[in-house]
Amino acid sequence: MELDEHQRKNIWDIFEGNMHHLYKGSSFGWDPQSKIAELFAPLSRFILVHVQGRLIAFVAFRFEYEHDGNTIYCYDLQVLSSYQRSGLGRALVLGLETLGRAWEMVKITLTVFKANASACRFYENMGFQIDVASPGYVPIGEVWRGNQVDYEILSKNLN
Ligand SMILES: CC(C)(COP(=O)(O)OP(=O)(O)OC[C@H]1O[C@@H](n2cnc3c(N)ncnc32)[C@H](O)[C@@H]1OP(=O)(O)O)[C@@H](O)C(=O)NCCC(=O)NCCS
Repeated sequence: MELDEHQRKNIWDIFEGNMHHLYKGSSFGWDPQSKIAELFAPLSRFILVHVQGRLIAFVAFRFEYEHDGNTIYCYDLQVLSSYQRSGLGRALVLGLETLGRAWEMVKITLTVFKANASACRFYENMGFQIDVASPGYVPIGEVWRGNQVDYEILSKNLN
């Protein structure tokens, strides 16, 4: 089913409310046009959560091929601020895990700003780890040499 304009606007409003300050202060910058293009790209898929007809949370994802296996790439996970810390984020990640296993995906992957401390703690709590493709990944036996990037790529294996 295609999203209509009203649904797109509601998705964008939650995203902007939660993320504007983080993007603005990041190396990505605040660039609504390119974010809208990414979010609503033809290959994007969504799970939407409504309460009494109002959108309160969503996850935007794509099925992607990576050299080390097929992945569900989570482009956005957003819960309206007044509904955060009530289990919705967990439920949406578990939903992605169920979908990923059903479609024989190897892992769920996502990008998170290091400055987004609460999301980092949430993903850690949900079992995500720094992905081998992340600038912050340190192979076993090697020494952390630091980097300048303000994001991390995280993933969770599904097998
Ligand atoms: C990050 C986010 C998706 C988490 O969803 P949520 O519904 O608030 O989180 P949940 O209530 O499902 O929490 C799941 C678990 O993570 C933990 N957790 C969630 N937020 C946390 C925080 N700020 N600090 C520590 N732990 C946290 C909870 O304690 C919970 O663990 P428990 O079930 O063992 O108690 C949500 O807060 C959000 O939309 N934040 C703003 C947008 C954002 O940063 N999105 C991520 C972009 S990468």
